[in-house]
Amino acid sequence: MSILNFVVSSFVVLSFIAFVVGIAWRVWLYASTPAPLRVFTAPAPATRAGAAVRVGREVALFESLFRADKFLWLVSMLFHVGLLLVLLRHLRYFITPPPLPVALMQPLGIIGSFAMVAGLVGLIARRLFDPRVRYISRATDMAVLLLLLAIAVSGLAMTFIAPPDIMAVKQYLAGLWRFDPQPLPADPALIIHLVLAAALMAVLPYSKLLHVAGVFFSSTRNQPDDARRERHVAAWARPLDQHRS
Ligand code: HEM
Repeated sequence: MSILNFVVSSFVVLSFIAFVVGIAWRVWLYASTPAPLRVFTAPAPATRAGAAVRVGREVALFESLFRADKFLWLVSMLFHVGLLLVLLRHLRYFITPPPLPVALMQPLGIIGSFAMVAGLVGLIARRLFDPRVRYISRATDMAVLLLLLAIAVSGLAMTFIAPPDIMAVKQYLAGLWRFDPQPLPADPALIIHLVLAAALMAVLPYSKLLHVAGVFFSSTRNQPDDARRERHVAAWARPLDQHRS
């Protein structure tokens, strides 16, 4: 195994572990944090099922963002829908043979990659040119956007300029899964793409990108408006015989 293969493969595997452990840890933290008070934004659904639908609409349609800021909604939608299509298209590198829906949606994935880039350019422009947003922006806000853009550009460079040997990529990835090292394809664009994607996995649970999991735990969205129908008693205030820690 070459030194480059060892360094890149170790980075990818460690980043993947940091991603899985980080997400699990954060989700556990969110799920175990008490939320004794009703803090939903009104009007809110009266039932838990209704609140779940509300969260679903927030995740799928960015409903509250649409009401707040139409430009931000548009560029966010372009980016997120594009990213979803790109990631679905990527399943063919990990599953052999790819399922029919993944095979059929390949051209959609290409359209998605352009939508993703357009959305990222809009999000970057907003941070640069809107004085109010620029004032509250930190270097890390820009860094994650630039990281995502660099991943997309290196991906598009492979698709349109220097196509890699996809079979060699699949073999290499399968080797990582099984801890059975395979040769690292010698495509500079692929190596850059892989390292950047691994960096994204490593930072995701520890950065603002964690909203991907956090949105499901947003108390203002996931709580039903049942404060007048149910008596909520904090665990510490319950009679001793009903006490739950
Ligand atoms: C282990 C992770 C990844 C691997 C092995 C990988 C591999 C590849 C390969 C081989 C291509 C070239 C496709 C072709 O020529 O048909 C590609 C393209 C691309 N990748 Fe990735 N990628 C990974 C992660 C990501 C991530 C996390 C993103 C987005 C955040 C991304 C975004 C793109 C884009 C936008 C393209 C160009 C459009 C396309 O062909 O799908 N990739 N990737």
